Amino acid sequence: MGDSTQIKNYPPSALLRRSFRKAFPPAVRGEGVYLWDQTGKRYLDFSGSAAVNFIGHGVQAIVAAMAQQATQLEFVHSSQFTTPVAEEYAQELLEFAGENFVGGSVYFTCGGSEAIETALKLARQYQVEIGQERRHQMLSRAQSYHGSTLGALSVSGNRRRREIYTPMVREWAHVGMPYCYRCSFDCSDGCRNCGQQYAAELEHAIESAKGSVAAFIFEPVSGATLGAVTPPPGYLQSIAEICRRNGVLLIADEVMTGMGRTGRNFAVEHWDVAPDILVTAKGLSSGYTPLGAVIASSRVVEAIASGSGSFLHGFTYNAHPISLAGGRAVLRHLMERNLVQAADSEREQSAGANLARALANLPDVNTVGDVRGIGLLRGVEFVADKLSKRPFASKENFAGFVAAASAKRGVLVYPMQGCVDGKSGDHLLIAPPAVITEEQINWAVEQLQDAILEVSSEVATA
Ligand SMILES: Cc1ncc(COP(=O)(O)O)c(C=O)c1O
Repeated sequence: MGDSTQIKNYPPSALLRRSFRKAFPPAVRGEGVYLWDQTGKRYLDFSGSAAVNFIGHGVQAIVAAMAQQATQLEFVHSSQFTTPVAEEYAQELLEFAGENFVGGSVYFTCGGSEAIETALKLARQYQVEIGQERRHQMLSRAQSYHGSTLGALSVSGNRRRREIYTPMVREWAHVGMPYCYRCSFDCSDGCRNCGQQYAAELEHAIESAKGSVAAFIFEPVSGATLGAVTPPPGYLQSIAEICRRNGVLLIADEVMTGMGRTGRNFAVEHWDVAPDILVTAKGLSSGYTPLGAVIASSRVVEAIASGSGSFLHGFTYNAHPISLAGGRAVLRHLMERNLVQAADSEREQSAGANLARALANLPDVNTVGDVRGIGLLRGVEFVADKLSKRPFASKENFAGFVAAASAKRGVLVYPMQGCVDGKSGDHLLIAPPAVITEEQINWAVEQLQDAILEVSSEVATA
């Protein structure tokens, strides 16, 4: 494992793939929780790809809605027209986002990173419109990921994903964040107190920037970077209060956690936090079409409407009618089938509760340090030594090998590294579609456990 003599490149492809050192089986079909590759091998999609698919694969109603829209009108430019599908879907999404967004507006993009760029610019323009021209800094958290475009990378703390691009991005403060399994404080109260200390770090960063902070962006539940770390009680409420008190907009990045994934329409609802801007993608279309959305509260929209009158931003493909028809059908589908409730781990016998229960025994495995998360967003962190919580050396690629061993057994999970300090620390994300059954969950967890044991024994004998 991790031996550089084993590294080989695969034959060249016309497609610039994610890696030259990994084999990618051609996928040809999806249905329910399953995907099939060209050889006929079946995989249980236990991570919803990358926490994307929420409603299951192959739902023909979504395909039909998109085909119907394409037949009628495939595209118009948003500088010339609006469309019925855009107007109706935006209204439905505002209602789904709840009371906090009554009177607000939705801006549609082609995915999460574009939506984050949009939110950052919207926050900046809001501050200019209300006469706060100095406010331009976007604060964020150290162990975070907000997307791969340069603006989104600048607010991302994920060292692995940003390191070589650092000279190209603006650097603003990244504050620390609570990570209870590796808490830097001496906690005995479930991290309630240290959550307040982390929140105070934000206030300090805002004060140090002397009136130039426009917004603070955060993931309510950490996604890829830390692997489903939930905030301690009181922390997010304090963050929201600090932002409000200091004239700083609060942007919730719910690209991964939104649209039901955690068992609420949006994860902020678990902690009663009301952001000024909410960003979502992934589950918004469940992967049926590239789609993201920025949901802005009435206060933000009003400032522009009654100020300059136009949002200085745009993409050719924003509010693309075919994508919106797909997203709208996904929203209808997940509401009709009560899939948000299915993801809620506090509900007895829900998929979320079944997943939590099935994963509860994993910590018995020697190399499993922590199992965490909420709803249908779960993380498994690996350690070389349980007592000291020492991580594996990153060159061992422990999580990557577990994911490969698991895929061999027909179960897909999403491996990541960097949870300890941005570089070392191995973890997996588990985020299955909400239509997964108890039997499928139990089988998948068994396969995953076998995969972890296999890789652990290889490490022990290496
Ligand atoms: C929390 C979060 N924000 C933003 C993004 C970027 O979204 P996309 O990959 O659709 O551009 C991601 C992607 O993983 C994410 O998890």
